[in-house]
Amino acid sequence: MQARGRYCAEKEEAMNILVTGGAGFIGSHTVVELLQAGHTVAVLDNLCNSSEESLRRAEAITGKKVNFYKGDILDRGMLEDIFSAKEKVDAVIHFAGLKAVGESVQKPWEYYENNIAGTLTLIDVMRKHNVKNIIFSSSATVYGDPAVIPITEQCPKGQCTNPYGWTKSMLEQILSDVQHADPQWNVILLRYFNPIGAHKSGTMGENPNGVPNNLMPYITQVAVGKLPQLSVFGNDYDTPDGTGVRDYIHVVDLAVGHVKALKKVQEKAGLKIYNLGTGVGYSVLDIVKNFEEATGVKIPYVIKERRAGDIAACYADASLAKEELGWEAQYGIKEMCEDSWRWQKNNPNGYEA
Ligand code: NAD
Ligand code: WQD
Repeated sequence: MQARGRYCAEKEEAMNILVTGGAGFIGSHTVVELLQAGHTVAVLDNLCNSSEESLRRAEAITGKKVNFYKGDILDRGMLEDIFSAKEKVDAVIHFAGLKAVGESVQKPWEYYENNIAGTLTLIDVMRKHNVKNIIFSSSATVYGDPAVIPITEQCPKGQCTNPYGWTKSMLEQILSDVQHADPQWNVILLRYFNPIGAHKSGTMGENPNGVPNNLMPYITQVAVGKLPQLSVFGNDYDTPDGTGVRDYIHVVDLAVGHVKALKKVQEKAGLKIYNLGTGVGYSVLDIVKNFEEATGVKIPYVIKERRAGDIAACYADASLAKEELGWEAQYGIKEMCEDSWRWQKNNPNGYEA
């Protein structure tokens, strides 16, 4: 494994990056990689699903400073202040958003308001200050139930099964239209597959509120004794063992993908779309087995009904990112399991401990 600092932006020039949602799971890991690559980082986050402690830990890992602004992307006054007075921003990496699929079905207005109105406010302030470079957190969810797997960026977008997914799909459209209307914009849409894992140090990781919805944090909470057993949602899918297949990607690989994507901003590449995945699909039972092997901890599970909205299988063709960004996932499933577990074991209550 290469040292991360060297693996990142070797020749790219240092930039001033505003990271919205930078205290969150993917954002905080990206802050570490940006700092290690020599970029200057400011973070705007309202902490609705995160803790400022993640940024203190990012600073401890890197020995570098982050300018933190506690605030909302819907707060135009605060954005104006950051762009006009507080920071010189070359590019924005935009993670801020609500992401709980089930909650989005219960609270669609809140999801459209936060994710769409928030992004509209952000890009309006950006253009007023002539900052027209943005990297956006999109999702494999925009493909819906994919017609063909592995999924390339050419696959048509599909029908999302929940408002959260639609916010990603609609924001991709909005950002693409903005770029078409004004080619000075550089818009990089990154479609993440299933991020798991944690920083190698064991000091940073995913910190879900309440009972986790996603597979890996659920498994680690079973492993640490906070939850009794895993429910496997369906074993009658058309997959090798009947359970759902996904493309799990280490969060540090994902973070490095953002640093690599800055190259396209520097090249003034216009509109670009990349899948960020490993290209390998694992079933739910594969993940349980790999986790048990990597950690030595047994995960009791029961088979339950399928979860509404789930698809059978989804994994990426990530060759475009390799070709154009020089990016490729470095970590395998064993390290993803080990690192998720190290974080959970060392921090049973996340950042609140
Ligand atoms: P996260 O919840 O840990 O991070 C999102 C951050 O945004 C949080 O720190 C939250 O406090 C902040 N935030 C939310 N609304 C805000 C607002 N109005 N103003 C300011 N800050 C706000 O989630 P994550 O897993 O790190 O995801 C980051 C981004 O990637 C999100 O946009 C998410 O939709 C997207 N994404 C995540 C996944 C995944 O499985 N984790 C997959 C695909 C895409
Ligand atoms: C993975 C597999 C479940 C929990 C979601 C969002 C997607 C993206 C990533 C943001 C599936 C099974 C899960 C459990 C289980 N987020 N599972 N028991 O559903 O692929 O993607 O997160 O963009 O939009 O939909 O991820 O981790 O929830 O599920 O059996 O307790 O694990 O059925 O097959 P998913 P996940």
